[in-house]
Amino acid sequence: MNTLSPTQCKAWGQLAVHAESWRSVHLRDLFANDVARSVQFIAEGPGLRYDYSRQRLGAMTLRLLAHLAQERGFYEWREALLAGKRINDTEDRAAWHTALRAADAPAEVRETLSRMKVLVSELRNQKRFRRVVNLGTGGSDLGPRLVADALGDGRLDVRFAANVDRRDLERALEGAQPDSTLFVVASKTFTTQETMANAEAAKRWGGKHFFAVTSNVEAAKKFGADEILPMWDWVGGRFSVWSAAGFAAMCAIGPDGFEDFLGGARDTDEHFAAAPLEKNVPVLMALIGVWNTNFLGAATHAVLPYSNALRLLPAYLQQLEMESNGKRVDREHGAVDYATAPVLWGAEGTVSQHSFHQLLHQGTQTVPCDFIDLNLEKTLSANCCAQADALAFGTEAPALPAYRQYPGNRPSSMLFFEELTARNLGRLIALYEHKVFTQGVIWNINSFDQWGVELGKELAKKILKGER
Ligand code: F6P
Repeated sequence: MNTLSPTQCKAWGQLAVHAESWRSVHLRDLFANDVARSVQFIAEGPGLRYDYSRQRLGAMTLRLLAHLAQERGFYEWREALLAGKRINDTEDRAAWHTALRAADAPAEVRETLSRMKVLVSELRNQKRFRRVVNLGTGGSDLGPRLVADALGDGRLDVRFAANVDRRDLERALEGAQPDSTLFVVASKTFTTQETMANAEAAKRWGGKHFFAVTSNVEAAKKFGADEILPMWDWVGGRFSVWSAAGFAAMCAIGPDGFEDFLGGARDTDEHFAAAPLEKNVPVLMALIGVWNTNFLGAATHAVLPYSNALRLLPAYLQQLEMESNGKRVDREHGAVDYATAPVLWGAEGTVSQHSFHQLLHQGTQTVPCDFIDLNLEKTLSANCCAQADALAFGTEAPALPAYRQYPGNRPSSMLFFEELTARNLGRLIALYEHKVFTQGVIWNINSFDQWGVELGKELAKKILKGER
């Protein structure tokens, strides 16, 4: 597999030179001088329109970025990802999350999904359990929590506890009774300190009904779980919402909703696998991110869903992007000499506008933004579009004092969906997964391990044992 450093690629040098010619270009002038811009820089993905006309780039930029991806062996890496090859070299594992939603999914995946559907249908159709509490953290929490928060229909009261701070579990159990509460202990390893502590605390509270979702069946048996749903080492935690790790999500949205969610991800997978690079939405998202980070110097990236239902999306994407691509060592295990993942942050619009948009418009840092418009309400869409325009075009009002000037030229992209559905949420999350993968390829890093979190865990254990 190609492990050439991106900075050794011809296109990298060309992009660096090309970036110089963009330093003094303003988005205002680009739009004024090119009426076709707002239709030229648009790509259609499954169920969505991706408008990147407000990015500071041109056709040549995109050509060079596509060359960079090709020089980095993008096609070969994509094939390896989709075929379930062991591309996570430091753990000698595949990263085959696409198999979880494939039409021809492996038998073990289909069997697990069927089992989940039976269990969830029972739970949703009976009166025995009123509360489902998911105990997990990271990928065993953020995905199902996001889906449940976005689309939960209220048939079951589904709660989440992730923090080892006992207040988190206390909150999840407010008003609950042990007899009518089902705990789902979701942990791929079944060794995560916070999750195991919460599972034990749930037992002490009087919890009697426990399901486990894990790849560590032995540990789950020892714990005494009534039902064990498998996870596999070829699915990374932050890519696992499509698996049994999404059990609490299925409880919240129902088996049919979960099927739609998987179907949406499958739509994006098919698009990612087949669309040419210049029309491939997740690839474009990745390339534009590389352009902003490595050539225009952006250090952070904001995600702004104009939807209360998607208020947890930034938190979900923080793990997906930063645990995957927050790396300083390349695939040859040498230190990189270029930036990798920017800091990802964000919040739901319009709430964000009254918090940190001041910095977006007039701060000293340029923060590329993803605006996500789900066509929910006119006021939301109007605000979403207004923010993107204000950032891009600013004001030309020299008579106003400096503090009332908006410099503009601040890049953003728009993702438009027609509505908020399980299918569209699946499509959206999978877009970001493939964006992350593509950026990992360009940066020549392994997006699928997370060694950076280990040291802190070990030290905390030592401190607890009094060894430090
Ligand atoms: O510590 C990081 C991490 O390993 C994440 O990658 C993972 O999603 C999370 O912890 C939870 O892990 P587990 O599902 O094994 O409890």
